[in-house]
Amino acid sequence: MALVTGASSGIGLELARECARHGYDLVIAAEDELVHDAAARLRVHGTAVHEVRTDLATYDGVEVLMHELRARDRPVSTALLNAGIGRAGAFLETDLGDLARVIDVNVSSTVHLARRLLADMAERGEGRLLITSSVAAEMPGPYNAVYNASKAFLQSFAQALHHELQGTGVTVTALLPGATDTRFFLRAGLLDTRLGRSKKDDPALVARQGYRALMAGRSRTVAGSVRTRVKELSTRGLPVGVRTALHAHWARPHGSGSHL
Ligand SMILES: NC(=O)c1ccc[n+]([C@@H]2O[C@H](COP(=O)([O-])OP(=O)(O)OC[C@H]3O[C@@H](n4cnc5c(N)ncnc54)[C@H](OP(=O)(O)O)[C@@H]3O)[C@@H](O)[C@H]2O)c1
Repeated sequence: MALVTGASSGIGLELARECARHGYDLVIAAEDELVHDAAARLRVHGTAVHEVRTDLATYDGVEVLMHELRARDRPVSTALLNAGIGRAGAFLETDLGDLARVIDVNVSSTVHLARRLLADMAERGEGRLLITSSVAAEMPGPYNAVYNASKAFLQSFAQALHHELQGTGVTVTALLPGATDTRFFLRAGLLDTRLGRSKKDDPALVARQGYRALMAGRSRTVAGSVRTRVKELSTRGLPVGVRTALHAHWARPHGSGSHL
């Protein structure tokens, strides 16, 4: 049985589709009612799909999901912790509650679920966990500061756990997609930026590559088109100040002036 969070749309839906195609029964989680449509679409692959509607921004919402998993009385052999949100804009002009929610969904729910799920996996001596980070993890993110920091946390967290769990039969993989064509940019308020208007990768391609890396037990993979992977390689070697300025150029809202 596989768990996929944030499986109602975008990369998560495609990750769930990969799991279903490879014969996994699924538990999928998301907050809104679209999760029911996603479950119906995934059932066409012939696997059992149980959907859980819960707000992963809250501790209790994560526990609701854990309760649903335990009620199935089957171990989660593979978990893909993918739910995530962004909140774009100048830090001082962004509502504190919105920023806290980015940390609650991206960071807190992932640590919470990883702690619970990995404990069971380690006890059984087998399991695979994927955590969706981002290429945004690799650069400080002016106009998206909390989001980029949350994704840097997730990359570091996943790679640390991968190392800690060596020899236990459990692997942890960080998935770093580049800009991908999903509802993310609209929801994060990024449409009015160069990043929001840039060419994006197909979420199905990102999911295929992520699934492959997960099954191979890799610690980290950058996913997307060749263009995305070359861009990631070429920016990774740049001094941090240059990477930061590049991000500002791409994420600064239109009309707020460009200094690059
Ligand atoms: N698109 C990109 O360019 C890109 C690049 C790198 C990394 N990523 C990461 O990829 C992951 C998936 O994003 P996406 O691009 O596929 O965007 P998306 O289509 O907006 O998907 C986000 C998913 O997360 C779920 N989610 C958000 N808040 C939630 C909450 N409080 N409780 C439960 N579920 C919640 C959403 O469900 P509801 O609709 O029900 O809230 C949805 O299923 C995120 O972690 C994102 O940071 C995206």
